[in-house]
Amino acid sequence: MCGIIGIVDKNGNDVVAQIVECLERLEYRGYDSAGIAVISDGKIVKERAVGKLPNLKEKLSRSTIAGSLGIGHTRWATHGKPTESNAHPITSRDVAVVHNGIIENYKELKFDLQNDGYVFETETDTEVVAHFLQREIDRGASPDDAFENLLKSIEGAYAFAIIFSAAPSTLFAARHRSPLAVGRGKNFCIGSDASSISSMCDEIFYLEDGDRVKVTRDRILLFDKDSNLAERKARSVSPDFINSGKGEYSHYMLKEIMEQPNAIRKTMLHNQMDTRIWEGVSRILILACGTSYHAGMVSRYWFEKFFKIPTHVEIASEYRYRSPIIENDTLVIVITQSGETIDTLEAIEYVRKNSASRIVAIANVKNSAISRAADFVFYTEAGLEVGVASTKAFTAQLTILAIIAFCRYEFLLQKLHNIPALCEETLLLYEEIGKVSKNIAKANGAIFLARGSLYPIALEGALKLKEISYLHAEGFASGEMKHGPIALIDDSVPVICLCPHNELFEKNASNIQEILARSNNILIFTDSSGSELLPSEVVKIVLPNVNSEFAPILYSLPLQLLAYHVAVLRGTDVDKPRNLAKSVTVE
Ligand code: M6R
Repeated sequence: MCGIIGIVDKNGNDVVAQIVECLERLEYRGYDSAGIAVISDGKIVKERAVGKLPNLKEKLSRSTIAGSLGIGHTRWATHGKPTESNAHPITSRDVAVVHNGIIENYKELKFDLQNDGYVFETETDTEVVAHFLQREIDRGASPDDAFENLLKSIEGAYAFAIIFSAAPSTLFAARHRSPLAVGRGKNFCIGSDASSISSMCDEIFYLEDGDRVKVTRDRILLFDKDSNLAERKARSVSPDFINSGKGEYSHYMLKEIMEQPNAIRKTMLHNQMDTRIWEGVSRILILACGTSYHAGMVSRYWFEKFFKIPTHVEIASEYRYRSPIIENDTLVIVITQSGETIDTLEAIEYVRKNSASRIVAIANVKNSAISRAADFVFYTEAGLEVGVASTKAFTAQLTILAIIAFCRYEFLLQKLHNIPALCEETLLLYEEIGKVSKNIAKANGAIFLARGSLYPIALEGALKLKEISYLHAEGFASGEMKHGPIALIDDSVPVICLCPHNELFEKNASNIQEILARSNNILIFTDSSGSELLPSEVVKIVLPNVNSEFAPILYSLPLQLLAYHVAVLRGTDVDKPRNLAKSVTVE
């Protein structure tokens, strides 16, 4: 999390407006504070503000800050509260630093620097970087040597952009376990992702772990972890990276919900099964986090039923810390929207170290760290997803998983082609779902219930509601209620059930009766046959009939709309909910 930017203007023009433009595109990575530093008349000058970017913009509109070399930051707080003093750029006298990551040995470094008289003014781990570099300069080191010595002394994850007043037209940057892209074009830029710098670059390359760059007005020098001059493969800027705005919608999330039929169509069009992934495979392990983990959970039902292969799904952040055993005949599928999630990346590293298993990534962001780390990649063609709450990337992930899981069942693949039209029909329920959401918006929480492959969708529905409305919500397998959670039920707790007329309908309907015996506060998403059979007094929303294998894709949509309406009614910041970031690059 945190977004960093650095720009060197080749013609010596002011870069402040360009940095702000890039920060706008990086705000999805955190919005606890934002800041900019430039070199002006040989001195470091900075401007910072707590909260979202408009606060910084407002300050900048009253400031004269200008310079042709600058860095910027948008923060997701790890060490230290979201205050102005903890906002980046973090400075020492002659150095300014923006950082994404966590310096793990900052306590030892801080102790050492304090003993040498350096005074700490922030609660951040990053401040050790600024003072370390300052101490190097004070001892007579050049900025290059100071930076090289820093990289030898720090441990942890980082992407840095650094400026020194002693090198007024040079930008220094490095990465280790946090992403960093470098762009060439009108100007030279570095950014936490390619999208942030794409408008001012023709070509982009990604740094590898341990790489550092020195960017001046006329060239970019790249050094690998052994300090040898190196080159990385340049790629042209993909149009996928361009943010086309919210259009007619009030929020990106709503726009992205509505884009799902096309995202699914495009994902089907661009992805075919590559049978090589199955060579020698007798089990499947799926690793992912959050919403992507829920997509993996759905696919377990598909893989086991149709492929007859034992399938395990694990939360990536837990996986590698329990010393799991992994056999070489395991196909590892990692699922990610951002392609950057550090927990998932670290899980891949664990798999690499402990087995010869083949790794397949399902990613939305092209050339992202996870897609580069995998042996095969399937790209979801959802396009840029701006809303922090994942929607279209999720259903696109399910689409790819369906393509993989049903590859031996042509009739199912054919039926998958009906899904975009069914999604279009389902999205027409927008107003109707808006009406029922009023009851949930005034509650203190909600429970989501489902069975079978819809159970992960109940979990996903609860996650969506939590993320953007700040209501407590939990998803349960319907049959599990009587084992404890049913104690939560009374009229004040809305219960949202997914109950299409499928092979589990009778069991699900009985579980609904158990809830109805204790509360009338139930909302059921079902289909026309289910609606006829379910009690007439219950509030029901009727979805189109769908082949039961694909119900998880279709039933995701009304739950996204429900969360959206509830969040709007509760007045939260739908696209940038509190405490969250779109890309999670710290453990
Ligand atoms: O980019 P990834 O798919 O790897 O991200 C995983 C989770 O952080 C992500 O799905 C998160 O749960 C979303 N905010 C859900 O809406």
